[in-house]
Amino acid sequence: MDVNLMEEEALKAIEEAKDLATLENLRIKYLSKKGLVQGLLAEMKNLPKEEKPQFGQVVNKVKEKITSALEAKSLKLNDLALDAQLEKEKIDLSLDAYTPYIGTMHPLNLVVQALEDCFIGMGYKVAEGPEVELDYYNFEKANIPKDHPSRDMQDSFFIDVNTLLRTHTTAIQMRELEKAHGQMPIKLVCPGKVYRRDDDDATHSHQFMQCEGLVVGENITLADLKGTLQFMVDSLFGEGKKIRFRPSYFPFTEPSVEVDMTCHVCGGRGCPACKDTGWIEILGSGMVHPNVLAINGIDPKKYSGFAFGVGIERVAMLKYGIKDIRDLYTNDMRFLKDFKRFD
Ligand code: DAH
Repeated sequence: MDVNLMEEEALKAIEEAKDLATLENLRIKYLSKKGLVQGLLAEMKNLPKEEKPQFGQVVNKVKEKITSALEAKSLKLNDLALDAQLEKEKIDLSLDAYTPYIGTMHPLNLVVQALEDCFIGMGYKVAEGPEVELDYYNFEKANIPKDHPSRDMQDSFFIDVNTLLRTHTTAIQMRELEKAHGQMPIKLVCPGKVYRRDDDDATHSHQFMQCEGLVVGENITLADLKGTLQFMVDSLFGEGKKIRFRPSYFPFTEPSVEVDMTCHVCGGRGCPACKDTGWIEILGSGMVHPNVLAINGIDPKKYSGFAFGVGIERVAMLKYGIKDIRDLYTNDMRFLKDFKRFD
């Protein structure tokens, strides 16, 4: 075989080799014991004596060239393989790190917190009571006679004749009046869940929340109630909203009033939200009925008090512009994540 031709072929094949396996095959083909270079050297014995050294030199040169070409190519292919491997394992440090989801407070809890903050600031304590309540505290003590419509089986979830899911936080008020054992003054708020047999729709829910407020002491008047509620409205909705009292009826208060505030949407000019009246009803309240004080061993001639019950959902819906009360209970994270604390 022609030495030069073999060299040319070998170097070209090495140059064109795409991977280490091909290169190894070329090494075997040319440089192994049974390879082509060895084959050439074997042919040497057929040459005349004087040509042997020169032929030997030429073949050795070719062997060296092929060896170093194989080495150089092997280094190059190793480098390329490493580059490819590194490329595959590349970590993109510019990617944003995983940010853990941080929950937000539920709008109803935000309202409860704002109410508690407002009243704790005025020296009130926060009280709680059971959701499964005795008829005695829910109705009887609240001066709600046996034939009062709100006792009707259609309005309340009764568990047995004496027990029901409380229909209003006024039940906590009754427990607290009893617990005070005549110790005055009493100043407390009691937020909590309440239950009524209602068909759920955009503005009604069979389960909702209220916050009751109660103050009993000497010389407590309707003016104190008005000032307190004005302060509450200022803290919840910002200053500049007026409140007004409308006569109403609750068995546990006398006189009883419904409280309206300036419409938060139109500022009182009149709009669809306030049905063009300029006012939005926000809660029920009144002066604690003398019978209620007396039942609890508090002398109505010496002491008087006011009470109110505000709907937490109502405040949340007004404050955050929520149209459907059911949104507060369906736990859609997209809905719940947007609510900011009250200032
Ligand atoms: N308990 C009443 C209701 O659920 C709300 C209420 C009205 C509570 C007047 C009061 C109050 O404490 O004085 O509709």
